[in-house]
Amino acid sequence: MDEQPDKTSTADPAAEPAVAPPPAPAPEPVAAPGPGAPSAEVLKAEQLSVYYGPKLAVQGVDMTIPTNNIVALIGPSGCGKSTILRCYNRMNDLVKTARIEGKVLYHGADLYSSHVDPVEVRKHIGMVFQQPNPFPKSIYDNIAFGPRVLRMKVDMDEVVERCLHQAALWDEVKDRLKQSALGLSGGQQQRLCIARALATSPDVLLMDEPCSALDPVATARIEDLMQELRKLYTIVIVTHNMQQAIRVADRTAFFTVEVPSDGDRYGVLAEFGDTDQVFNNPIDERTKRYVSGEFG
Ligand SMILES: Nc1ncnc2c1ncn2[C@@H]1O[C@H](COP(=O)(O)OP(=O)(O)O)[C@@H](O)[C@H]1O
Ligand SMILES: [Mg+2]
Repeated sequence: MDEQPDKTSTADPAAEPAVAPPPAPAPEPVAAPGPGAPSAEVLKAEQLSVYYGPKLAVQGVDMTIPTNNIVALIGPSGCGKSTILRCYNRMNDLVKTARIEGKVLYHGADLYSSHVDPVEVRKHIGMVFQQPNPFPKSIYDNIAFGPRVLRMKVDMDEVVERCLHQAALWDEVKDRLKQSALGLSGGQQQRLCIARALATSPDVLLMDEPCSALDPVATARIEDLMQELRKLYTIVIVTHNMQQAIRVADRTAFFTVEVPSDGDRYGVLAEFGDTDQVFNNPIDERTKRYVSGEFG
């Protein structure tokens, strides 16, 4: 993009507690990660390790996210699911001590190249968090937030309507767009956060346990919505709920924790494959134990 805001700047919509206003369609020719033509492999981690200060959090992850897939990241608490997810749109940049080794490619381009503007990255690769966190603004202004901050030249009414339709929320809110988003139910708020993430026209949505604060009915709505969204977007979801991974994901990545006798524990990717294979015919002994409920 034409400007290179400081990564800690409040102008970075992703730095807001909530959202992750991200991205525009993959194919837009940008100076940032410069996705060329959309590729079958949207995101690719190559020997990706993440440190917080001197402490190794996750080691040596190789994982390719195919386009228009839903990929679930599962595994015990602390194994590095959120850490890896945040590498995919450079949200870890906002953690001062975080440092990566290895590579993350986005449509074949190095996401961590010095030419890449993290704000531009988050425009293309959006994020939705565990706790629905709409801004204390109107429903309309929540969705308009990202495009406004990024000074996108768009027909805002059209963007708001499109995103609310895509997030399966339009019919419930079309008559109260100017009312506070905080008046919505938890499930509606989370769908609003999804709509907000779509407003910058991303091609990837990262979701970190997006249903864990929701009741089963609201959860089912989000899961149904994900099946619609995967037609247009690629989705990576962290979930602690194995049944949810089985219900929604095409592919599943199982992370586990290595506990060396002489050092600190760190996460590794133990197995990555079709969801059906990972749950019904796991190759790795650690996956077998986890999916059978023996540990974790
Ligand atoms: N901001 C942070 N600063 C320091 N350590 C962190 C930070 N975030 C996560 N970690 C550490 O990294 C490891 C992986 O954490 P996380 O990615 O949150 O795991 P998960 O999402 O699988 O529960 C844990 O040991 C955690 O304590
Ligand atoms: Mg987490």
